[in-house]
Amino acid sequence: MKGFWNSKSIIRITLSFIFLFISQFSDVLAAPTRHLCRPEQKDALLKFKNEFEIGKPCGYCTEYGIEPYPKTESWGNNNSDCCNWEGVTCNAKSGEVIELDLSCSYLHGRFHSNSSIRNLHFLTTLDLSFNDFKGQIMSSIENLSHLTYLDLSFNHFSGQVPSFIGNLSQLTLLDLSSNNFFGEIPVSFGNLNQLTRLYVSYNKLSGNFPNVLLNLTGLSSLTLFHNKFTGTLPPYITSLSNLMKFYASDNAFTGTFPSFLFTIPSLTDIYLNGNQLKGTLDEFGNISSPSNLKELDISGNNFVGPVPSSISKLINLQKLGLSHLNTQGRPVDFSIFSHLKSLQDLNISHLNTTTRINLNYFLSYFKRLSSLDLSGNHVSATNKSSVSDPSSQLIQSLYLSGCGITEFPEFIRTQQWMQELDISNNKIKGQVPGWLWTLPNLFYVNLSNNTFIGFQRPKKPEPSMEHLLGSNNNFTGKIPSFICELRSLETLDLSDNNFSGSIPRCMGNLKSNLSHLNLRQNNLSGGLPKHIFEILRSLDVGHNQLVGKLPRSLRFFSTLEVLNVESNRINDTFPFWLTSLPKLQVLVLRSNAFHGPIHEASFLKLRIIDISHNHFNGTLPSDYFVKWSAMSSLGTDEDRSNANYMGSGYYQDSMVLMNKGVESELIRILTIYTALDFSGNKFEGEIPKSIGLLKELLVLNLSNNAFTGHIPSSMGNLTALESLDVSQNKLYGEIPQEIGNLSFLSCMNFSHNQLAGLVPGGQQFLTQPCSSFEDNLGLFGSTLEEVCRDIHTPASHQQYKTPETEEEDEEVISWIAAAIAFIPGIVLGLTIGYILVFYKPEWFIKTFGRNNCRRRSTTTTH
Ligand SMILES: *[C@@H]1O[C@H](CO)[C@@H](O)[C@H](O)[C@H]1NC(C)=O
Ligand SMILES: *[C@@H]1O[C@H](CO)[C@@H](O)[C@H](O)[C@H]1NC(C)=O
Ligand SMILES: *[C@@H]1O[C@H](CO)[C@@H](O)[C@H](O)[C@H]1NC(C)=O
Ligand SMILES: *[C@@H]1O[C@H](CO)[C@@H](O)[C@H](O)[C@H]1NC(C)=O
Ligand SMILES: *[C@@H]1O[C@H](CO)[C@@H](O)[C@H](O)[C@H]1NC(C)=O
Ligand SMILES: *[C@@H]1O[C@H](CO)[C@@H](O)[C@H](O)[C@H]1NC(C)=O
Ligand SMILES: *[C@@H]1O[C@H](CO)[C@@H](O)[C@H](O)[C@H]1NC(C)=O
Ligand SMILES: *[C@@H]1O[C@H](CO)[C@@H](O)[C@H](O)[C@H]1NC(C)=O
Ligand SMILES: *[C@@H]1O[C@H](CO)[C@@H](O)[C@H](O)[C@H]1NC(C)=O
Ligand SMILES: *[C@@H]1O[C@H](CO)[C@@H](O)[C@H](O)[C@H]1NC(C)=O
Ligand SMILES: *[C@@H]1O[C@H](CO)[C@@H](O)[C@H](O)[C@H]1NC(C)=O
Repeated sequence: MKGFWNSKSIIRITLSFIFLFISQFSDVLAAPTRHLCRPEQKDALLKFKNEFEIGKPCGYCTEYGIEPYPKTESWGNNNSDCCNWEGVTCNAKSGEVIELDLSCSYLHGRFHSNSSIRNLHFLTTLDLSFNDFKGQIMSSIENLSHLTYLDLSFNHFSGQVPSFIGNLSQLTLLDLSSNNFFGEIPVSFGNLNQLTRLYVSYNKLSGNFPNVLLNLTGLSSLTLFHNKFTGTLPPYITSLSNLMKFYASDNAFTGTFPSFLFTIPSLTDIYLNGNQLKGTLDEFGNISSPSNLKELDISGNNFVGPVPSSISKLINLQKLGLSHLNTQGRPVDFSIFSHLKSLQDLNISHLNTTTRINLNYFLSYFKRLSSLDLSGNHVSATNKSSVSDPSSQLIQSLYLSGCGITEFPEFIRTQQWMQELDISNNKIKGQVPGWLWTLPNLFYVNLSNNTFIGFQRPKKPEPSMEHLLGSNNNFTGKIPSFICELRSLETLDLSDNNFSGSIPRCMGNLKSNLSHLNLRQNNLSGGLPKHIFEILRSLDVGHNQLVGKLPRSLRFFSTLEVLNVESNRINDTFPFWLTSLPKLQVLVLRSNAFHGPIHEASFLKLRIIDISHNHFNGTLPSDYFVKWSAMSSLGTDEDRSNANYMGSGYYQDSMVLMNKGVESELIRILTIYTALDFSGNKFEGEIPKSIGLLKELLVLNLSNNAFTGHIPSSMGNLTALESLDVSQNKLYGEIPQEIGNLSFLSCMNFSHNQLAGLVPGGQQFLTQPCSSFEDNLGLFGSTLEEVCRDIHTPASHQQYKTPETEEEDEEVISWIAAAIAFIPGIVLGLTIGYILVFYKPEWFIKTFGRNNCRRRSTTTTH
């Protein structure tokens, strides 16, 4: 599994990172000052204050334990001594400003090279982390030659890392992480010979391992993770003889295992997970003992061969990640790990071994283990008496996904410390035991994809449960009411089961915490409850038997981002009143009994709307789409590059969308995906010209309505469009030549209209099947002749038909390819601790059914 990326280990990294962070801050915040500041310094600070706006607080501050506060706001108000201003520290003798800590200060804007910060000549510490600074890194700091501590992390700085930073030769700490820097590390960094800590993680830096860093022999922490570095790690890295922490995970480093790292005696942490290292781990054999190594993660590379036995020499290891080491079906002697008595966190998932792990026996080796991931290996969790007393275990996180387990592991009953349990993708039958809900610390349970049939009622459920995932089982009967007693529940996913009855009223108990509710694909009946959700972000009740109207109370769900009620029997008019929802991004009403006109709807944030297969009718005014701003502009390139999946760390929204004639499941919804599907209704009149404003639209389906008039030429402005379907309407006139210029448009359908005239040229048109143009009045042109060449009826100025049989063959997933092609621009940067938890570098789409949009070359000739 290439590019696999172990989220848990990164969280661990993140935690160490947080820790560093906090420890750094406490230093900075300490020293108070008494002396009056110098007037020109005060002047510079006040000017600096006015260069930026006070924006929104950065969401990550509290996550990282820093109190967000707009420090500059009070500057200058009552107090003339700038040395007493928030975040300012002066030299006690001279009154010069030497430290400026504006972390988490809501600052927003661009630095200019003339920024008055350049006049704070005496600064030794500058902390601008966790703000919203944009643009190039400011050259205004190039002359601050006394700087020893420079932290610009968690901003939106972009561009190349400027080489003048290499002139700040006093720096001991430099943190550029979590920005949008790209390009290579400048050679000038070789001058930073005082540097002990260098953090550049979460950018888009590329190139080989920056050899200039090998000059920085004082480095103790080097953090490169989540960038695009390539090439092999240089053996000379051993010249960094003080290096303690080396984080290089989630890049594209190649080569074999860099065993020379083991010869740096100071090293305690090595993170190489999520790269493309290959070969065997034989080199482990030369480990010089005793090793100080505490954390080693080499998960998610392309290593093959046995687990090296010499790993048992790393006796100080507290964390070990070997996930996806491909043992090629060899047996593994799991007792090797028993020598690692200090282990707290062990990830040996997906070893591709036939050896079965006896869980109880295995756990008896480790008394300190708090996190264990055995997913993808064969595990037996027999409930027979085990070697040791399982209740002495301290396990907090246990991942047993896809382990072929058939019985619920009984020993968990005694695991009072357990917080996270993943036993998804197994073959566990029967009831989910009631005692599970009485474990006092358990907050995450994933039971998905087993064959559970019911929930045993717990005696008294603990309130700790936050994320309960139970999709894809055989649950039947009513949704159990004890779920309503899980008062902390934030995520409830019971989709793809056989639950029947109505959605329980008692779910109102959950209203103050529940943010993701997925009851899709069950047999639920009755209406949607009216008053139970206050802070819901996503509600999916698609594919049930729900009736009645959409509760009007939905309009107060101001946090709602996703509403999906597809394939029910809801009989209502268009919910234009949902326009008041400030965050609604996805609205799916598909296949219900909605009816009537849809005029006067303007959805500012909506990116995906599917109201297809209902009974909507009437005309759409020509300015209909004028206010649909999210589809007109998704924001800056930066916003795009920070695109994310919808959902939370423990749950991702998904949906099925008709795209290019295929039903495609977006297993994760990228926050920049856009689609508009009005098909299968009774809309009439002209297609609104304002459709041309929706420049970000990827999928547009207006088929199977009664639209008349011309196809608006403004459609030529939909430059992002990949799929266009206007078939089965009453459109007449020509296909606008402008559409021929839409270079991403890989799938289109104009059939069954009354179109006439010249079919546009353009490569995209040439790849369409003939059927996309069939049943019109008088289309012609060389394009048509080309695409219909294989058809019996020669393409001509007359109407033509495609033989039915022509469509039978293969299911083409070309659109997956198209979607994959779409992703490289999207680098999920920035949001440590959020994206981190769930980002997988794949575009999760499953495709069902037949693609009408086959490339011509795949059609059979006669
Ligand atoms: C300034 O002083 C006034 C009165 O002394 C006080 O009400 C106000 O809160 C002070 N403002 C700040 C920002 O300290
Ligand atoms: C600084 O430069 C920016 C743009 O380069 C300009 O708009 C601004 O007026 C300048 N400010 C000062 C104080 O010179
Ligand atoms: C830095 O100092 C040099 C030499 O004194 C000067 O030319 C340059 O303009 C200064 N840069 C800034 C941004 O102040
Ligand atoms: C760095 O400093 C050197 C000498 O002090 C100077 O020649 C060079 O121009 C400076 N580079 C940058 C990018 O400021
Ligand atoms: C390495 O550091 C030395 C001083 O310690 C300096 O003279 C040399 O230029 C640096 N090399 C590079 C490649 O920056
Ligand atoms: C697992 O090992 C077998 C050999 O037993 C090999 O054929 C297979 O490709 C390996 N699986 C993976 C995912 O590499
Ligand atoms: C469900 O689990 C089985 C193993 O029991 C696995 O093969 C399958 O891929 C899983 N299905 C999904 C949708 O994850
Ligand atoms: C679970 O449900 C599926 C489909 O509904 C069915 O094929 C299967 O036999 C059921 N399994 C059990 C153990 O009930
Ligand atoms: C919707 O409800 C109305 C009455 O309220 C009824 O006349 C109509 O037939 C219903 N439509 C559908 C498709 O069930
Ligand atoms: C829309 O459909 C309804 C029946 O659902 C009908 O009463 C109404 O006249 C139709 N409106 C238009 C403009 O066709
Ligand atoms: C198409 O876009 C251009 C440039 O953005 C704009 O001037 C023009 O008015 C647009 N046309 C329509 C019909 O929206």
